[in-house]
Order: sequence, then C-alpha cells, then structure tokens
Amino acid sequence: MTGTRTILTVFGTRPEAIKLFPLLHALEADQRFASRVCVSGQHRGMLDQVLEIAGIVPHHDLDVMQPDQTLDALTARLLTGLGAVMDTEKPDVVVVQGDTATAMCGALAAYYRKIPVAHVEAGLRSGNIHHPWPEEVNRKVIGSFAEYHFAPTETAAEALRRENIDPAMVHVTGNTVIDALHWITGKIEREPGLASGLAGLEQRFAGKRIIGMTSHRRENFGDGMRGIADAVKRIAARPDVAVIFPVHLNPNVRAVMNAELAGLDNVALIEPLDYPHFARLIAISTLMLTDSGGVQEEAPALGKPVLVMRETTERPEGVEAGTAKLVGTDADTIVAETARLLDVAEAYGAGAQSVRRWQVIGTDCRTAREINPR
Ligand code: UD1
Ligand code: UDP
Repeated sequence: MTGTRTILTVFGTRPEAIKLFPLLHALEADQRFASRVCVSGQHRGMLDQVLEIAGIVPHHDLDVMQPDQTLDALTARLLTGLGAVMDTEKPDVVVVQGDTATAMCGALAAYYRKIPVAHVEAGLRSGNIHHPWPEEVNRKVIGSFAEYHFAPTETAAEALRRENIDPAMVHVTGNTVIDALHWITGKIEREPGLASGLAGLEQRFAGKRIIGMTSHRRENFGDGMRGIADAVKRIAARPDVAVIFPVHLNPNVRAVMNAELAGLDNVALIEPLDYPHFARLIAISTLMLTDSGGVQEEAPALGKPVLVMRETTERPEGVEAGTAKLVGTDADTIVAETARLLDVAEAYGAGAQSVRRWQVIGTDCRTAREINPR
C-alpha cells in the first residue's frame, strides 16, 4: 500500500461495481492515494461477475446478501458491518456510488465517524420519492452531507445547487459508465472470446430483430412486473422479433418472468450476463427494453434506442435527447411504443441519431460509434 491519502471505496451491487471500477483502476495507478476497497456483498453472484472481469480484489467483503432480503434488515447489516470496517481502516475519504442501500449506509457510517464522503453519480433526481424506490431517497440522504459531489452532467449539478449545496463542492465529471464501456470494449477487442457466448442465441434468432431486455425495479414488483411480462409476450408473438432477457437474480423478478415467459419460442430467458456479454447483447439488439438505470445510459452510448419501463426517470438527458422514452409498465403502451420503433423508420432513426447529443454524458466524450462490442 502506497500513498498519503487513504480512500476507502464502498460498494455492493452490480451497477455500483461497473461504475466504480474505472475509478478504482485510476486510484490504484495514482501514487497520491492508498486505495482500499470494501464490498458489502449486497449482491453476490452478480457482483462477483464484475469484480472478476475488472480485476478488483476487495480488502473487505461483508457478504451480507440473504435470499429475498428486506430493506430494513439489509440496512441494519450494512450499517453495522461498514462502520466496523471504517473503524479498522480509518480512511481519509469514503467513496460511494449512486443510490443503493450499500451506498446510503456506507455514506451514513462515514458521516457518523466524521469522515468526508465523496459521492459518485451525485445529483440524479426524479423528483418522486416513490419512483425509483427507495433509490430517490437514498440519493438525497447521501447528497445532504457529502463533501464531494461528483455529478455526471450539468443537469445533475444544477439539481444539487437547487438543494443549496455549496457550488464549490459540486464537480461535473461525466459518467463513469462510459469509461467502463470504453474499457470493456477495448478488452473485448483484444480478447473476442470474452463476449462470444451469445453465438448460439444469435444463430437461433438469425433473421429476427433482437430486443435486449432487463427488469428488476422494486417499485415494479406485482402489477408492474406482470404488465411488463404481458407486453413481452405480445411483442414476442411477432415472427420478426426475438427477446433476449437476462433475468435478474431477485426471486421476485424470477418468479413472475419464469411463470409468464418460460418456453415461448421467441423469448430467451437467460441467466444474468457478465459485463462483456451484456455489452454484446446491447450491440446486437435493435432496441433495449429496460427499467434499469445503467442501461438507460449504456444503450444510447452504443447507438441503441431505449424504452424505459418506468413512470419517471432521474436521467432526463436521454429522454430530452430523444434516445430514451418513458413507457411505464402498462402493457398496451409498451407494445405500441415497441412497434413504433420497429415499424416506423423515422421513429427509430430519431432515437438512434440522437446518440450524438448524448455524448456529453461520457467522461471523455469519445464518439459513441467507437464503442462497438463484437
Ligand atoms: C439493488 C438496489 C437497486 C439496484 C439493483 C441493481 C437497493 C435497495 N436496491 O436492487 O438500487 O438497481 O440492486 O441490480 O439497494 N440476488 C441474488 N444474487 C445476486 C443479487 C441479488 O440472489 O447476485 C437476489 C437475493 O435474493 C437478494 C435479492 O436478489 O436478496 C434482492 O437484492 P437487493 O440488492 O436487495 O435488491 P435488488 O433488487 O437487486
Ligand atoms: N448488466 C450486466 N449483465 C446483465 C444485465 C445488466 O452486466 O445481465 C449491467 C449493465 O451493463 C449495467 C448494469 O448491469 O451496467 C445495470 O445494472 P442493473 O440494471 O442491475 O441496476 P441499475 O442500473 O438499475 O441500478
């Protein structure tokens, strides 16, 4: 361990790992810092997939995940576990990312110890505490006491300033998911075998337009998920379309999707993909159907329109640029908007072209077309 300032980076889920690994690589390479990593293990398999591909070996792993965990029990385990790690590490700064339970508890445990908090992906706001739930409140909690607010866009920075955060503490950085995409794309170019595992499905669905799909949001459990499943069933009834859906490991998602969609000819329900294969899925898809946060950013960066199965989004830039559209979870709306993208050339063209306007969200602003996972 070298360096003078100890930075403890805390994360626990797949998207946090993806959006933090570029920063961890940078910290590791910078002699001014001693980089320490604590994973909560809020996710297990899906987190480990990212750690492995990015070559991150955590110094601490709390392994907190339990099947179908509740928010309160998870929060209790996280807060006490992360606090103990901070007492051992005594970092100068704690870094958290985004809006998960791990991020919120990591920030809170640091605050309780008067350790400055740096928040990556700060300032995202939907303005609705129930959508996304509980993430909107998690972000606001972190933002209320963080000392370094790393906002991905000017819109996010403005949201923080509106909450009376000192502008000197707000830094517009661009979005680290774009760094992650560049990194993984370069790696796939050097090692094509890393993303070759979809070949069987590509063959099975040859001649069809592929729709890549993900869904996992807690606020969509119940009616929302059933609406989404119904829409997919109807979309996949088209002979010219196939849906590839890596199903999130949350049992609430799997129960509905397996019950509704298993066995359909034009639907492949598959296990969560590792990051290179997911990048490949976006690349071979005509469009993405998702309620994910990260996929709303990645799909446009790869020139793919995205239909966002949510009522609202804390990432309005994609919608404003015309590359993302909010479609909620009503089956009729999802089916109609998907058909519009598939059948109306102008609608599709507008979505795909707006990628140029979206580039501002990347940290290094390279053209999206340079990213093209094989
Ligand atoms: C969490 C985040 C959400 C983020 C999502 C990314 C919170 C409150 N929610 O939601 O913001 O968008 O991660 O995917 O922090 N599971 C496994 N293996 C895994 C991962 C999950 O089996 O690798 C199952 C477990 O049964 C677990 C359940 O999924 O209890 C829920 O995981 P949890 O992290 O609580 O919620 P997510 O819905 O994944
Ligand atoms: N992702 C992945 N494999 C998959 C599905 C998604 O690697 O099978 C990646 C995706 O590239 C994105 C991130 O996981 O970077 C998004 O995670 P998720 O949708 O679970 O969470 P959210 O972004 O909504 O918080």
